Amino acid sequence: MAEKISVIIVSQNDRLRELLEMFLSEYKAEFNVIGGVNLSSDFNYLIDKNDKAVFFIESTDENTDFIKSISDKFSNAKIVIIKENPDVTYIVNAIRAGAKEILGYPIIKTEFIDILEKVKQQFSGEFKNQDKCKMITVFSNKGGIGKTSIASNLALELAQTTKENVALIDLNFQFGDITAFMDLQPSFDISYMFDNLNLLNNDFLLSTMEKYKDTSLYVLADSPYFKPAKKISAKQVTRFFETLKKCFSYIVVDTDSTFDEKTITTLDYSDLIFLVTIVNLPALRNCQRCLGLFEKLGYDAKKTQIIINRYMENDEITASDVENLLKKKVYWKIPNNYFALMASINKGILVTENNPTSNVAESYKGLALQVSDSVFRNNLIKKFSPEDSRRVNKILEI
Ligand SMILES: Nc1ncnc2c1ncn2[C@@H]1O[C@H](COP(=O)(O)OP(=O)(O)O)[C@@H](O)[C@H]1O
Ligand SMILES: [Mg+2]
Repeated sequence: MAEKISVIIVSQNDRLRELLEMFLSEYKAEFNVIGGVNLSSDFNYLIDKNDKAVFFIESTDENTDFIKSISDKFSNAKIVIIKENPDVTYIVNAIRAGAKEILGYPIIKTEFIDILEKVKQQFSGEFKNQDKCKMITVFSNKGGIGKTSIASNLALELAQTTKENVALIDLNFQFGDITAFMDLQPSFDISYMFDNLNLLNNDFLLSTMEKYKDTSLYVLADSPYFKPAKKISAKQVTRFFETLKKCFSYIVVDTDSTFDEKTITTLDYSDLIFLVTIVNLPALRNCQRCLGLFEKLGYDAKKTQIIINRYMENDEITASDVENLLKKKVYWKIPNNYFALMASINKGILVTENNPTSNVAESYKGLALQVSDSVFRNNLIKKFSPEDSRRVNKILEI
């Protein structure tokens, strides 16, 4: 039988705890209520940080620190907040702190049951389908511009923020850097996957891709050793991403700088392309060329978004100069921080882990939030009034 999902109810309100326990008693086969506790309890003795668990937390004030502490500590847990008339600022802060769902108080049984069903599906991995998956490809036709740094940190932060399964794919078959950036020695590499496309399915992918520490990030890269380049056809790439899209909520692809068949098929297949540039004229000219090419390929203007890397506020060329030149809004700016990046690369630890409070790590986290906002945050907020949704979107600048 599948492992039960532990339930922890954090509330001072006896009646609320009793009510939830009563609802949950109909789900004994799947959920195991292991405690109704208050905010100051030490949860470590109740569950392990990797356990499948759901926290129902009643919130009576506007503070979200507690949500964040639970989210940081129990990386595999889902957090559901129960709050009477939550206002927009609270919803945004709670979500940013790691809450997955917000339930109004008093509780409506059907809403509560819907959430139990969702949690069940998320833990069993059944919730994935192609419509839900968002595939993001980080591209530039220049090397050394920051693609691998962005792709790897973004993927890790997406996994940490959403707790959903995220795939990080290194399409640089010959000189991929992801294994070095994350200090990985994958047992199965991407060449192996392409040689065994007929075996690909959910179980095969989740068991052969490299799970990164105790997160929901799965990495597929080539071994750090040099191998002769391999010719990959458009058909193989399509088959590969089709299967991947069924198994993951997000796919982040790191590319090399060449416009070959495999890269173009990957770009075609992506929902979002992050075109990375730095602020100097040769890089910006290249960026213009790429935008021209994407237009010729028929990509919707929204599909391609500009990221400025190594941005410095006092630079001679500003972000608005870039927008004027490219005739396109800049989606995100990542600050220049050579030392934080170098220190991380040299240790083989991503900067979001090695130096999470650095400006560059904060920026990758913000980018992940921005990307995930448009998917699950929006769905969550839809439950509240249309006016609330508009205000939340404004705050989150979607
Ligand atoms: N925001 C940044 N600030 C400072 N240095 C950066 C930044 N992003 C990337 N770098 C540095 O630029 C170099 C190339 O980055 P990388 O991510 O490997 O680029 P690419 O994948 O496009 O070749 C690395 O040495 C990295 O440390
Ligand atoms: Mg790279």
